[in-house]
Amino acid sequence: MADQVKTSALISTARALVAGDKGLLAMDESTSTCNQRFAELGIPQTVEARRSYRELLVTTPRLGECISGAILYDETIRQRTREGTSLVEVLLRAGIIPGIKVDLGAKELAGFPGEKVTEGLDGLRERLTEYLQLGARFAKWRAVIATGEGLPTQACMEANVHALARYAALCQEAGLVPIVEPEVLMDGSHTLERCFGVTEEVLGMLFAQLYTQGVALEGMLLKPSMVLAGKDCPQPSSVDQVADATVTCLLRTVPAAVPGIAFLSGGQSPEQASRHLNAMHIRFERKMPWALTFSFARAIQQPALEIWKGQDANVAAAQGALYHWASCNSAARRRQYGTGV
Ligand code: G3H
Repeated sequence: MADQVKTSALISTARALVAGDKGLLAMDESTSTCNQRFAELGIPQTVEARRSYRELLVTTPRLGECISGAILYDETIRQRTREGTSLVEVLLRAGIIPGIKVDLGAKELAGFPGEKVTEGLDGLRERLTEYLQLGARFAKWRAVIATGEGLPTQACMEANVHALARYAALCQEAGLVPIVEPEVLMDGSHTLERCFGVTEEVLGMLFAQLYTQGVALEGMLLKPSMVLAGKDCPQPSSVDQVADATVTCLLRTVPAAVPGIAFLSGGQSPEQASRHLNAMHIRFERKMPWALTFSFARAIQQPALEIWKGQDANVAAAQGALYHWASCNSAARRRQYGTGV
């Protein structure tokens, strides 16, 4: 009985995260990633600068109109606004569900140069209990898969999908919706077709592992990369080609029981990411069994960060840019990005 109640809570949270035309804001950069992005713009790499920036994000007016959930980082879920309200509370008041990144990063995979495996399973059960108490209702774990000559190896794919499935099972045990994020990286010169093949194989292996580990598909979300040619591929792909390849690949591999798919942006520009999502909705309207939405970090945040530059005087303009890109992706779910509607 208690398990049934827990599962129905997971299902309703998962559905709420992908409902309507909303999507997720990923603001879960680790301290080192956040510092790196600050350094590129000459922003001081301090706890206070990171706190101010996260406060700017969560206090953006009307953010809850287009954002259903925000993925936080360990540092951020404990932080407060200058006035002393917890960032979790600010999100809840805006109608945004707080979530948390729980992996401890991708580390070199022993014996397989150029490949990584994501760590963080040890002690995860205890950390999930704490995050639930801090207000998180969902979690995220990212695995990275590199494509290249001889890559990815079976060893890399197996290690990563196994960890993703064990993480997902632990989340559901704790009462948190797992967002399962296998990212096929854009780095390299591989073609769109090669990305399709790698993504299809990884997702096939992933859902087999999720089944083996007893994960309830109805109470999880998938966060994949779009099917794209590598950054250095000489043959550019059109927006429609990306949309067709991505949704075709997902239709082949993602069971209909999964309530939603929320993409990462992976280094695409904000315009590209929104255009691709929009085209998927136009070309596959009513042909997809799951909700299809966004869970972008850079494609929503980067313009805002570049405007803010660490200056209080730029907060309102930066929030305007954040709202703009969040609402563009909401429009893309309605097939209205770029139509001026
Ligand atoms: O793990 C990565 C984030 O959740 C998504 O980031 O949209 O910048 O790729 P991105």
